[in-house]
This record gives sequence, C-alpha cells and structure tokens, in this order.
Amino acid sequence: MPAGAHVEIDLALVEALTKRETANLDEKHARSLAYREEAKAYLPGGVSSSWQAWPPHPIYISRGLGSHVWDIDGNEYVDYHNGYGVMVMGHAHPKIVEAVQRRVELGTHFAQPTEDALIVAENLAERYRLPYWRFGNSGTEATLDAVRIMRALTGRDMIVKIEGTYHGHHDSLMVSVFPSKEDAGPREHPASVPQTKGLPRAFVDLVVSVPFNDAEAADRVFAEHEGQIAGMIVEPAMTNCGLVLPDPGYLQRLKEICHSHGALLAFDEVKTGFTVAWGGAVEAFGVVPDLIALAKSLGAGIPCGAIGGTEEAMSMIIAGELDQVGTFNGNPLTMAAAKVNLTEVITKDAYARLDEINAILARCEDVIERYRLPASMKRLAAKGSIDWRSTPIHEYRDLWEIEDGVPQLAWLWQLNRGVFKSPGSKWESWTTSIAMSDEDATRYVDNFEELAAEITT
Ligand SMILES: Cc1ncc(COP(=O)(O)O)c(C=O)c1O
Repeated sequence: MPAGAHVEIDLALVEALTKRETANLDEKHARSLAYREEAKAYLPGGVSSSWQAWPPHPIYISRGLGSHVWDIDGNEYVDYHNGYGVMVMGHAHPKIVEAVQRRVELGTHFAQPTEDALIVAENLAERYRLPYWRFGNSGTEATLDAVRIMRALTGRDMIVKIEGTYHGHHDSLMVSVFPSKEDAGPREHPASVPQTKGLPRAFVDLVVSVPFNDAEAADRVFAEHEGQIAGMIVEPAMTNCGLVLPDPGYLQRLKEICHSHGALLAFDEVKTGFTVAWGGAVEAFGVVPDLIALAKSLGAGIPCGAIGGTEEAMSMIIAGELDQVGTFNGNPLTMAAAKVNLTEVITKDAYARLDEINAILARCEDVIERYRLPASMKRLAAKGSIDWRSTPIHEYRDLWEIEDGVPQLAWLWQLNRGVFKSPGSKWESWTTSIAMSDEDATRYVDNFEELAAEITT
C-alpha cells in the first residue's frame, strides 16, 4: 500500500459486526427493552424527546456520579454523552448537590428575581466579553431570543444560518438542519428545508442557509437580499456533525460582513460555551459577536438558557421596547446551580483537566495512522470527534460521503465496552468532563483500537 493510503473498509464485515454488537447490546438491555414497551403506552416511542429513541432502542438511565452513568439494567459506562454536552462538570458534583439542596429548602420558584442572577450575569460578562445578560430555560429559548432581537433591532425578517446546524426546535431556525442530498439543492444556493413537519412555510422561507467555512457564500447571500437580512446565527465551531472547527479568520470575516450590511452576528454557544474553553468560542477563537446564546453546561444539569449581548444589541430590552420573558426565567434553582458551577466548579483551573483528558484521547490519532483508517480526528478541550473520512469534515455536505454503517458500529462498539456516547455518532461529537480519570480516557482509546483491528483484518 502506498504511503498515506487508507485501507478500504469492508462494508459487509461492518454489517455483520453491527448485527453481532446489536444482539450483544439487546442482551444487556433486557430491562430497557421491556421498559420501552411499557412506556410506549403513555410516552410516544417510550421517550420524552424524539431524538432519545435512537436505534436499536432507547437506553434508560438510572443514575450518574462523576464521570460515570448506570442504566436501569445496572450496566456501568464512562459518560462521553454527558447529556448532549451538558455535564462537563460531571454528575452529582458535591458542590452542585449542596447548592441545589440549600436552594430547594428556601423555595424554588417565585417568578421574581433572586440575588444569584446578578452573580451569574457578572461571571458570563467576564467570560464572554458581553455586558448584558438575560436568562431562559433552554438553548431553544436562547436562540429564539437571539433571532427576535436581531429582527427587532433591524426591522428586517430574514435570517442567515449555516447548513447542517441545529439551533433548537422553534419555528425560526429548525430549517436545513440535516437536509438530505436530494432536498438540499445546489451548494451555491442551498434550499431552505424544514427539519420537521409542522413548520409554517412562511417561516422556512425567511431562512437562508450557507455552507460553514465559506465567508464569500455568506457575503453573496447578504448582497442578494440587500436590506432584508436581520442577522446571521452561527455555531462558532459546528458540533452536531462531528466537531467542525472554523478556518482561521472565518468568524471575524462573518462579523465584518454582517456589520457591513447593517445586520447582527449571533453565536450559538449552546454547545461550545463552557466546553471548548473557559470563555467558550469567544476565548478559543478571539471573536466577540453582537449576541451569544448559551444553555447546557451553564446550569450544571438544571434546565437553563441565557442570551447575552452588546449594549446596542440589548438596547431594546433595556428600554422595555422588546419583551424577553418567561415564567421560569432566572429560576432560583437554576441560578443557584449556575452560580456555584461558574464560580467554584468550572473555573479557569478546571480547564487544564479537560486538556489532560484530551491529550490521552489524542492517542486515537495514532490508531488511525497505524491502522491506516479512512478517518480523522478533531479535538478542542472537552469536545472532539472522529470523522469516518480521511480528510476532516469542513462543512455539512462532506458528511454525505460517510457511510452510515461505520459510525453506527463505532457507537455500538463503545457502548458494549462501557463507553456511553451520544447516539448517531455520524452527527455527534463527544463531551468529556472534569470528573474523568486517565483510565476513563484510556478506555475510549483501547476500545477504538480494538475496533480498528477488527475492521481492518
Ligand atoms: C447548538 C445548539 N443550539 C441549540 C440547541 C437547543 O438547545 P435545547 O435542546 O436546550 O433547547 C442545541 C441542542 O442540542 C444545540 O446543539
């Protein structure tokens, strides 16, 4: 084999191994399988969110502690799923447990502000270099607020987003999330594809999507819709189709393009916030947008969301001209957890541990090289992914070249060997936690090497 060439993966072998691993998984999950049948009677699909029903079956979890989770069959796993990237602080961290218990005894909801909210907002202002913050209860609410603010400030309705990014399930952005090759249209002018049934066509038509890492495509779209685009929302590093890093200068260029067309730039840091650096993507890539949507790790496992902005971006909320509202906004339980999380748990020092874990996971790169796998790896603090493609994913459409079978097998393989990952690893990056031990990281690498050996023989 010439130097640098990759092995050809035998897809028939992958299929056979997938059958074997699925049967092994079923055997270990008798209780989960039975429970799904019971749950289906009242919960559609037996789950509380459609994406929890990943094949072969949902796995019902009973508890988590530190870097580990246990399912209702009693199987133990190192948690790389971390609740879709939330639990970077680890499960049941003693300081979070104490803060939540203390707050529960003092009452958990008044729909009035509590003192903790100010401390949380101050901490966010320091991390993300934006002065003003408001709270909500999910990433969906945070990106909804970002879109509404951009529309209110500009008096325009259209929004630009990146093809292949997910920003939550509200009508304004659930467009071109995972479009199929058949529906997506030409790369120069991607079609606006509703991700789910039930989206009004009028909302879908207000969204224009562009490929990630292509500033000129964004510039072109702004020119084609001159004076109509309120702003652009972007995940500064894509996290829902592997981890896709921005090219140097890309984010800064987007900011310049938005501003030169009288529009705003919003970062969706729901997943990158608190995971790629202490100050999220703002710190990692050195660009401060007009608005930032946060959620996930902020609340240490309690439902949360936040929208931050420059003084100008938040001016209409400050002036009382735009309603950013919600019964549970700034909920005392969320704020108590977030305060301790930000000030005592995921502090600057904690990020050194994420880098140590990341360095152990980097051994997967050696495995890729040694076994000449058609795969590549990307890593940034708590986030990382292995793409089953020899050149790293640079934009969403690159994913179409990946066979579904291999990432599904890789996911099952890890699951059967004590590593819990987000389902659909073709689309998902992993999230590590500060609670992980060196052994937890080594387990991932060892499993990966075992898989590499099996599929290349
Ligand atoms: C990048 C991104 N933005 C927004 C959201 C929506 O967050 P939530 O599920 O809390 O509404 C998600 C959810 O996974 C996400 O990955």
